[in-house]
Amino acid sequence: MENINWSDLTFGYLKTDYNVRSYYKNGQWSELEVSDSEFIPIHIAATCLHYGQEAFEGLKAFKGRDGKIRIFRMRENALRMQASSRGILMAEFPVEIFEKAVLEAVKRNERFVPPYESGASLYIRPLLIGTSAQVGVKPAAEYLFLVFVTPVGPYFKTGFKPTPYVIIRSFDRAAPQGTGTIKVGGNYAASLVAGEMAHEKGYSAVLYLDSKEKKYIDECGPANFFGIRDNTYITPASNSILPSITNKSLMVLAEEIGLKVEKRPVPEEELATFEEAGACGTAAVISPVSRIDDLEENKSYVFSKDGTPGPVSEKLYNKLRAIQYGDEEDKYGWVTIV
Ligand code: PLP
Ligand code: COI
Repeated sequence: MENINWSDLTFGYLKTDYNVRSYYKNGQWSELEVSDSEFIPIHIAATCLHYGQEAFEGLKAFKGRDGKIRIFRMRENALRMQASSRGILMAEFPVEIFEKAVLEAVKRNERFVPPYESGASLYIRPLLIGTSAQVGVKPAAEYLFLVFVTPVGPYFKTGFKPTPYVIIRSFDRAAPQGTGTIKVGGNYAASLVAGEMAHEKGYSAVLYLDSKEKKYIDECGPANFFGIRDNTYITPASNSILPSITNKSLMVLAEEIGLKVEKRPVPEEELATFEEAGACGTAAVISPVSRIDDLEENKSYVFSKDGTPGPVSEKLYNKLRAIQYGDEEDKYGWVTIV
């Protein structure tokens, strides 16, 4: 096997051995198929290519100190993919078969699950696309579901270290009644220009405001947002952000360690009162925020002056990771052992 330097992995694509597929035709999903090809044959008029009939998910598998592989909250991802399908009129993939496909993809690529000590994990990417030909703007009649996996390190190359984020008011990621609450490719296409602007200026990501009023915090390009103040975990409620499974988990863990939890609209001015801030998601885990600059308004909110994460963020990070790697008891039934 190629030598993988597990501790140096970034959030990139590395070829693994197998992926798992199912095809929807005549109203039915096929049995799962295992493929060793990284490619799919596709019709030139497939709806995913022209009209964005595409949804994806992201979850992770972790190798524990005990050598066991644990998958975190995969049922939630299965359900969210169904919500995404309803949002852009694609065939829904059954939850139980989603779980079976994820397990199969992990088992078949077991040698790519990074060792416990590396702190890396196996990223699992389910994908659902419209495949049949359609030139009019209409949903496809046929779909392909697939799951591939790839070993990954931290999403932001600094890992668990505070980095700066930026508010760019001249771009929207998702409309108030649009597709922001589902995980479809178009949302990410819409975030690329502002995302690159942010990277060129040295920021980790854009922190989007609500598109309608530009008054409330929405989320980061690839992750949800939270702030900590007065022993309280505060995270935006909004009709244009993705319901993050990591955020949902952190809210439970926050209560467990004695924090209050508030999920409600968060006006931008409130950033000035936060003691800590973070981005959270499967890829981002918790990525602490050092500073948020609102470029057009010439404002800056600082959370970490000394380059270290805040104590509450650190506690939440350690607790979440401990459950994922099996160092702490899985008392909420979040983990599936492969
Ligand atoms: N928000 C967006 C836009 C995302 O792409 C993601 C990643 O999946 C998240 C939030 C975090 O969601 P989760 O914690 O379910 O990975
Ligand atoms: C994830 O956290 O799983 C994501 O999908 C975020 C990003 C890679 C798009």
